Amino acid sequence: MITFRFAECSLPESKAQSLAFFIAADQPLSSTLDRLAQDHFPLLESYLKQVDFAGQAGKIVPLSMSVNGQPKTIFCIGIGKPTAQGRITIEQFRRSTASLIRGMQSRKIGSCSVELPSSQLFGVSDFDLGKQLVISACMGSYKFDDYFSDAKRKVFKELTIECCTGSDADKAELQKGVAQGSIIAQAVNKVRHWVDTPPNKLTPTILAGFAKEVAQTYGMKYTEFGEQELIKMGMGGLQAVSAGSEQDCKLAIIEYKTEKKGAPTVAYVGKGITFDSGGLSLKPALNMEAMKDDMAGAAAVIGTMQVIAQLKPDINIIGIMPTSENLPSGTATKPGDIIQFYNGKTAEVKNTDAEGRLILADAMSYAVKHYKPDFMIDIATLTGACAYALGPYFAGLMSQHDELAKKIEHASLISGDRVWRLPMDNDFKAAVQSDVADLCNSGKSQYRAGAITAAFFLQAFAGEVPWAHLDIAGTAFSVPDITYYDTGATGYGVRLLVELAMHWDTIK
Ligand code: BES
Ligand code: MN
Ligand code: ZN
Repeated sequence: MITFRFAECSLPESKAQSLAFFIAADQPLSSTLDRLAQDHFPLLESYLKQVDFAGQAGKIVPLSMSVNGQPKTIFCIGIGKPTAQGRITIEQFRRSTASLIRGMQSRKIGSCSVELPSSQLFGVSDFDLGKQLVISACMGSYKFDDYFSDAKRKVFKELTIECCTGSDADKAELQKGVAQGSIIAQAVNKVRHWVDTPPNKLTPTILAGFAKEVAQTYGMKYTEFGEQELIKMGMGGLQAVSAGSEQDCKLAIIEYKTEKKGAPTVAYVGKGITFDSGGLSLKPALNMEAMKDDMAGAAAVIGTMQVIAQLKPDINIIGIMPTSENLPSGTATKPGDIIQFYNGKTAEVKNTDAEGRLILADAMSYAVKHYKPDFMIDIATLTGACAYALGPYFAGLMSQHDELAKKIEHASLISGDRVWRLPMDNDFKAAVQSDVADLCNSGKSQYRAGAITAAFFLQAFAGEVPWAHLDIAGTAFSVPDITYYDTGATGYGVRLLVELAMHWDTIK
């Protein structure tokens, strides 16, 4: 937990163990740092030159000095060169903030007094600066260390950040931003914890249980169906994927209702495969290693619902999570099997490793039939092809609905969960046709683009509802070089889906 405090402090007088300054490239030091240096480290400027620090983005220099008889660490944190318009991106602020947190953790420094840069430098409001400060600091402090028995390997997480602001900053707005950011950050880190949790500790039943817990804790309606019910209801996709596993599959549904009359309803559907071995179309060992992350879409939707219940946007949101485990066995679905989904459509299962679309097909059909949403967005670690096409920094966005796609692109820019739109051209539609059923679950090889052909499979289950698909196979896990991430889960999607819900009508 990180505690944030706003202090009427002059940094040198602060009781905190460390002080931090954000420094833009080739800019003069702030007057506070300048004064501090004059009194306690007269050679600061030449020292920074010596270690080649000129405020470069991502660079952080810790200094030790004695300030008013107290030992202190001073963190000089580079935030890079402003543009010609004098702006630095808010993403740079997020990354620099997370570097500070990691710097504190590795030195076991529990408190820091931070001179907050002006929000104008980033072209954002004071509210957004406070919000992004907390989100990036909390995300930066995350470490999946539950299973270390050696206490020394656990990461130091109890931190206090004291924020000192310039006189032009609106403290009330900053504080509101901090409060909202903290709600978002807690959910993001909770989602990361679920995604990092190994598949022997997180089954489809346990994952649905987390959805139930969130719904009950935050006062939302919860509905759950178990495997036998789902089979009776005609959910052949969930049935087929779960056939090889001893674990029960589930369909978990959380409903958030706004008090505002006439508000639109949006369905968020998240893929919840707690482990993906590929089934009988078994994955090679290397590709299977990280397949505990195949429930990252469902986790992101549950985390989003937790935030939404607290921030109360003016739209209705339904979170739908199909959960299952994809394993081979004597009872597993076989390549060649033909199955029928909840909306009556049939598919030939040519490749049991294309399982995500099978469980999403039932969940989407259910959402369309029972909630008649005005919009639907699914989020899924769906294809290796998407991860190859876009790499780890951009999720694939696929939609034939331009207005919805633009909303998502806009929310993505603000939130930091980035998307890149791939063409959902009807020429690709034939890739998922089958000679023996309505659809085939693996795209024909001539059409190549596996991320897009997967989207066309899903399209058959969106009905007439304006729908968008987010493929997070590349962004959910193991993303290099971003300081607010760690080695494992990223929590991708929570920041994006929350932003979208909060500003549904204002972002276009
Ligand atoms: N869960 C995987 C996709 C994935 C790959 C997620 C890498 C995260 C990282 C998905 O179920 C899958 O196996 N997809 C197949 C589809 C193919 C058989 C049509 C794939 O991408 O190979
Ligand atoms: Mn698979
Ligand atoms: Zn999968």
